[in-house]
Amino acid sequence: MNEDPPSPTGAIDPEIDIETIGEDVPLLEGIRTSCAVRRLKPDPVPRALIRKVCEAGTFAPSGGNRQPWTFIAVTDPERRAWFAERYRAVFLPYIAPARERAKDPDFPAAKRKIMDGAIHLAEHMHEAPVHLFVAGWKRRGQPQIQALFPAIENILLACRAVGLGASLTTLQQAFQEELDAYLGLPKDTPTCAMIPIGWPKVKHRRPVRKSVDDCLHFERFSG
Ligand SMILES: Cc1cc2nc3c(=O)[nH]c(=O)nc-3n(C[C@H](O)[C@H](O)[C@H](O)COP(=O)(O)O)c2cc1C
Repeated sequence: MNEDPPSPTGAIDPEIDIETIGEDVPLLEGIRTSCAVRRLKPDPVPRALIRKVCEAGTFAPSGGNRQPWTFIAVTDPERRAWFAERYRAVFLPYIAPARERAKDPDFPAAKRKIMDGAIHLAEHMHEAPVHLFVAGWKRRGQPQIQALFPAIENILLACRAVGLGASLTTLQQAFQEELDAYLGLPKDTPTCAMIPIGWPKVKHRRPVRKSVDDCLHFERFSG
């Protein structure tokens, strides 16, 4: 399972020490410099490293410690193309109104940046070397999504620590049943998100966020 297939791009895997990579990033600094990295190189990611970031996912909390997660790392180019084609078909109509609004020169630059990144990812989705799907078994007929997102965040932070670029997509929920069947998932274990992972073309950066002072209240909401 951990054996790497031959590189589809012919690129040589970077020589990395799986044991030590990412272990030196201070937790809070890693959190503050974690952002959506959607511009990815097509070079393959070693399976042992995919395993390492998924292992971080398994340390997430879950109700009753049920750990309902299943991770499926898709690296096969044809299977990534299958997903990318369907993702684009959903994404392009979704982003069209924002694209229209962005023609206005007063459209906020920060929003334009997010939009451009998301468009880039959609257009290059097939090139992202790892499509990591996150699924979880249903409990009492309900997906345990609240238990999957802490695992997803751990994986995103682990990617940040080891220097991989990653982001999060959920728009594929529009074709979730077809996708789950394609991934061979049982009916009671739906996907809830996908994490495109690869070596980043750009450096990790501190993301733009409102100040904590705008959202923290003590004792009572103070308006
Ligand atoms: C629940 C959730 C769903 C998201 N779905 C998508 C998606 O379908 N496609 C996409 O490109 N980004 C998606 N994102 C990524 C957000 O756009 C991104 O986290 C946000 O713009 C902040 O980016 P930053 O950390 O680089 O500032 C999603 C994020 C979350 C938390």
